[in-house]
Amino acid sequence: MQTIYYDLRDTKGQQKEIEDKISAAAKILREGGLVGIPTETVYGLGADGTNSAAVRRIFEVKGRPQDNPLILHVTGAQWLPRYCADIPPVAYTLARKFWPGPLTMILKRQPTVPNETTAGLDTVGVRCPNHPVTLAIIREAGLAIAAPSANTSGRPSCTTAQDVMEDVGGRVDMIVDGGPCAVGVESTVLDLTREPPRLLRPGGLPVEDIERLIGHIDVDRAVNVSLQAGERPGAPGMKYRHYAPKAPVTVVTGAPMNSAREIERRAGPTAGIICFDEYAHLFSQQEVRVLGPSSDKFVQAQRLFEALRSFDSTGVEEIFAQCPDNRGLGLAIGNRLKKAAAFHVINADSQRIILGVTGGTGAGKSSALRAVQDLGGIVIDCDRVYHKILSESEEFKNAINEKFPGVFTAEGQLNRKKLGQEVFAKRDRLEQLNAIVYRFLLPTLERIVEAADGLCALDAINLFESGLDRLCDRTIAVTAPTELRVKRIMARDHITEQYARLRVNAQKQDEYYRSKCDCELNNASDSPEEFRRDSYLFFERLVETIQEEKRHG
Ligand code: TXA
Ligand code: MG
Repeated sequence: MQTIYYDLRDTKGQQKEIEDKISAAAKILREGGLVGIPTETVYGLGADGTNSAAVRRIFEVKGRPQDNPLILHVTGAQWLPRYCADIPPVAYTLARKFWPGPLTMILKRQPTVPNETTAGLDTVGVRCPNHPVTLAIIREAGLAIAAPSANTSGRPSCTTAQDVMEDVGGRVDMIVDGGPCAVGVESTVLDLTREPPRLLRPGGLPVEDIERLIGHIDVDRAVNVSLQAGERPGAPGMKYRHYAPKAPVTVVTGAPMNSAREIERRAGPTAGIICFDEYAHLFSQQEVRVLGPSSDKFVQAQRLFEALRSFDSTGVEEIFAQCPDNRGLGLAIGNRLKKAAAFHVINADSQRIILGVTGGTGAGKSSALRAVQDLGGIVIDCDRVYHKILSESEEFKNAINEKFPGVFTAEGQLNRKKLGQEVFAKRDRLEQLNAIVYRFLLPTLERIVEAADGLCALDAINLFESGLDRLCDRTIAVTAPTELRVKRIMARDHITEQYARLRVNAQKQDEYYRSKCDCELNNASDSPEEFRRDSYLFFERLVETIQEEKRHG
């Protein structure tokens, strides 16, 4: 279909011509058509909000999930009673102060609003956009415009009419160009059916401004963290991986200086970088998009989506983004970045140190790990995490089953013995298994580790085979003379010397661990307590060395 493009960037020119264009847009809406409309936040994809068929077309064109309701756009609070019921006085207080502007209020709906618009909810979102062109179109059409952001579902929102053309051109009746969006992030969504009101989506109107006027508001969990399976956000739209460019995104929070350094450390030449102006010079090798000065969140909000969108036409393989703090517009900017990253977030301020601890049975790994805990560190048992994923992830099971058919029982239990036989002494088979394990275990462990602050030890027998060593600041081999190991296992597991020797010999020898690891912690002591104390001193020194290195980049 032919999309009509109207340029209304300059509304001071030919009055008659402008009025004609606005009338034409209003006519399309009244007749059930779709119009891309400018607002101060992001571009919207508008239709008559009371026309079910027209609203259904929005969902089709965007590819939007059916359970995600639309916002009604009106010209002021006088429209509220038409579409909303049980309107609390605070709605008018907020409208007086912040409308027209980037605030969407969720209120009980009137039966006049069709199910298509509200996705079957008994509430409806309403906002008055602060853009002269769209306000004129609504007034002229005499109806509320239902409009989601004009991007196709899952892509970053559109902040220019060209973006809209790129995403939905040829599939809508008209796109009205009102210039680049002044705010750049979507409206703040506030649920007023609750007391206190609840923030469902941070946006162009900072929470602090709202609280200054009406007092404390609650914040929906989905604003700050990725929800667990089955958990439902207040705003259905918050559960989708929105705003996402094609390449995976990692968000780095913390003081700008620290986050810039952290990105510099991690980013290879094929990475794309979103950073504050001051740090662009660090990334001369990479594709860089500057967000604006680190102190100017208005500019950052304006540029955010364009930066995210622009990487799709480049060859970057991953994207790193500096993130402002949560104050003011920072909450919305950070939320959009984190959603684009599926909440893959690294805090550059944290003094995290990750140690990989490995070694054969009986060498003293447990005592060494206890020393890490004595130092206030946490220990992550990688084998436990592996089994947890194994019991919870169907995808993981399927991947193993595909390569090793028959290792699962009918009830879906892993037959460890059978799998062991499959890979025992077969190098290529073991490698296949390790590759699958790595693919699933690594992202989970990365998340656990990145949430940790301070010292953290990975307890992993297959530290290198699994590739987990790549997460570590240092890898440590816990070693001990063979005779001592045999004696220890005999005592610990109450087994014969012969069997103990068999077990020790079946494993990789100290020489292997020594050659692979960055450092060695040798346990020639007869007393586990003594070794734990030695280990404490060893780790204490190691941590100091690593901290020193980190300080000097
Ligand atoms: O700034 C904006 O709000 C832009 C411009 C075009 O106005 N619009 C926008 O719409 O961002 P959309 O559809 O992309 O996002 C609307 C958000 C979604 O997360 C949706 O789930 C939520 O608001 N929402 C809408 N109606 C709701 C309701 N009745 N209850 C809870 N959440 C609602
Ligand atoms: Mg949207």
